[in-house]
Amino acid sequence: MKKDFLTLLDLSPEELRSLLRRASELKSGKDTSVCPLIGKSIGLLFNKTSTRTRISFQTGIYQLGAQAIYINTNELQLGRGETIEDTAKVLSRYLHGIVIRTYEHAMIENLARNSTIPIVNGLTDLHHPCQALADMLTIQEKKGKLKGIRMTYIGDGNNVANSLIEAALLSGIDLVIACPKGFEPDSRIYEHARANGAKVNIVTNPADAAKDADVLYTDVWVSMGQEKEVERKKKKFEGYQINSKLVSLAKPDVIVMHCLPAHRGEEITDEVLDSPQSVVIDQAENRLHTQKALLEKLVK
Ligand code: CP
Ligand code: NVA
Repeated sequence: MKKDFLTLLDLSPEELRSLLRRASELKSGKDTSVCPLIGKSIGLLFNKTSTRTRISFQTGIYQLGAQAIYINTNELQLGRGETIEDTAKVLSRYLHGIVIRTYEHAMIENLARNSTIPIVNGLTDLHHPCQALADMLTIQEKKGKLKGIRMTYIGDGNNVANSLIEAALLSGIDLVIACPKGFEPDSRIYEHARANGAKVNIVTNPADAAKDADVLYTDVWVSMGQEKEVERKKKKFEGYQINSKLVSLAKPDVIVMHCLPAHRGEEITDEVLDSPQSVVIDQAENRLHTQKALLEKLVK
């Protein structure tokens, strides 16, 4: 049976641990078993912009021995009204997997239901699970563990925050999210995680949340597709910024994370983003290694 990766909870805690182990092994360069996906083709279907996700998948797929076929979804017949169902069935006859970046999460669920090949979520409005995989590898590398790590996320309760909640559930990270009222993460994702024992709390005060953090994390205030809300959101998010004052409240060895791209001077200052505590470039690199481990596991 094919397996999709639409949200982080498509993996069990054990599958996650083994995927992170494999990603480290691939990163170390010690495994010389080359090209497990030789002769395969993976579609990269994007209708939002991307730097990291697109290039890390495209490069990783090449390194695994397969070819990546990148296409903006507007250039498919989907853009002229062909159904998702027909598209899914046809692409399943050519490809061995699809990575998709789009708006509605329900769209990729429909694509997955109608495909016989694995569908990987390269970001929807609701989830960004590939990002969370790289985030967990980065924390593990820098802190030596995930369980019990105190992570504070400052900012919008968006796709990245939703996937971090699921990461907390799977890994035992202790997560605090500080966001303005009305900008909380998805309530079903949050309630499900809490009901299943995740240590996740939502608060409104960034300074209280940052106290004693091992990890400070933020993302843009305005996500792709929310461009009309720029002015309203900027007002609401004043004060939800990772700056040196906030960093000083965390543990002395705190690491600072951001999925990137950053809006410097909004959710994070230049000073913090470029400081020795910032691990954002390692985080971006880890997209490559974790996604290779993921594709190796899913694509048959
Ligand atoms: N973090 C991330 O997904 O970056 P891109 O939007 O550049 O892919
Ligand atoms: N929350 C951001 C993440 C970008 C990687 C967005 O959806 O635009």
